Amino acid sequence: MSDVVKVISITEEAYDTKTFEFQWDEKASPGQFIMVWVPGMEEIPMSLSKTNRIKSITVKKIGKDTERLHGLGLGDSIRIRGPYGNGFDLKKNKNMLIIGGGVGTAAVIPVIKETGADTIIGARTDKDVIMDDVAGQYAKNLWIATDDGSRGFHGNVVQLMREKIQEKRYDTVLACGPEIMQYYLYKACVELGTDCQLSLERHMKCGAGVCGCCVMDEMRVCRDGPVFTKEQISRMKDFGTSKRDEAGRIIKIR
Ligand SMILES: Cc1cc2nc3c(=O)[nH]c(=O)nc-3n(C[C@H](O)[C@H](O)[C@H](O)COP(=O)(O)OP(=O)(O)OC[C@H]3O[C@@H](n4cnc5c(N)ncnc54)[C@H](O)[C@@H]3O)c2cc1C
Ligand code: FES
Repeated sequence: MSDVVKVISITEEAYDTKTFEFQWDEKASPGQFIMVWVPGMEEIPMSLSKTNRIKSITVKKIGKDTERLHGLGLGDSIRIRGPYGNGFDLKKNKNMLIIGGGVGTAAVIPVIKETGADTIIGARTDKDVIMDDVAGQYAKNLWIATDDGSRGFHGNVVQLMREKIQEKRYDTVLACGPEIMQYYLYKACVELGTDCQLSLERHMKCGAGVCGCCVMDEMRVCRDGPVFTKEQISRMKDFGTSKRDEAGRIIKIR
């Protein structure tokens, strides 16, 4: 089942990233995603960066389909399916640290809004930082890390996470971002004895557990994830190593 929604607002988050808001009454939870299509593109997965009645997607332009979405204007229609996936498990009374890397920050914004937990946002440079304004309104503490030191902590989110975990006890880390970042984040959590939930990405076609193109070891990322526990990730041989492109070719991550 798909729905057609209309774009009701567009926000420029960075030179290459835009948020498109639309009204959609379907119930959704933080960390879930939708499949998005407009004429002239392949259908692609996008996390929900707002999960209430007014929902949004935050799109980084990296290729032909995301470029097509960037061409949308106010009032334009988008065909969507979903929401899909499990989302983050937001158990109460857990002291959480939320981490967003690059455009992965969009997927954790609803988690920050719901929990108000301490948050780290990371990006390559100051001009790549997105959604720090909204994160700052809800997070108890917000720290920014940039690879080149042009803003906040000079280094990556994993280095900053290590510092914060030394200063204060966190029961669990919730993260979304590039897989290489999440790989080192996972290794640090294992070393520090901190629990984690990570939102992973694989090439997707159906988004609903049918086609098998997003399989990682025995898991379907679209249906069993995209959020996986530390224990599930510990059994994934592909995690942080390789993934497949739209033609099924293996791409090395590390
Ligand atoms: C569950 C899920 C949620 C997602 N949520 C978001 C989101 O909220 N916002 C967002 O902007 N994107 C998100 N993505 C990624 C998004 O779907 C892809 O960026 C998009 O499909 C790329 O399409 P394209 O045609 O523009 O680029 P393509 O032409 O397919 O790719 C252009 C180039 O980028 C590379 N590439 C493709 N995908 C990725 C990737 N994910 N990371 C790094 N390089 C890549 C390709 O190998 C190619 O070299 C999500 C993906 C998944 C699986
Ligand atoms: S995208 Fe088809 S099974 Fe996951």
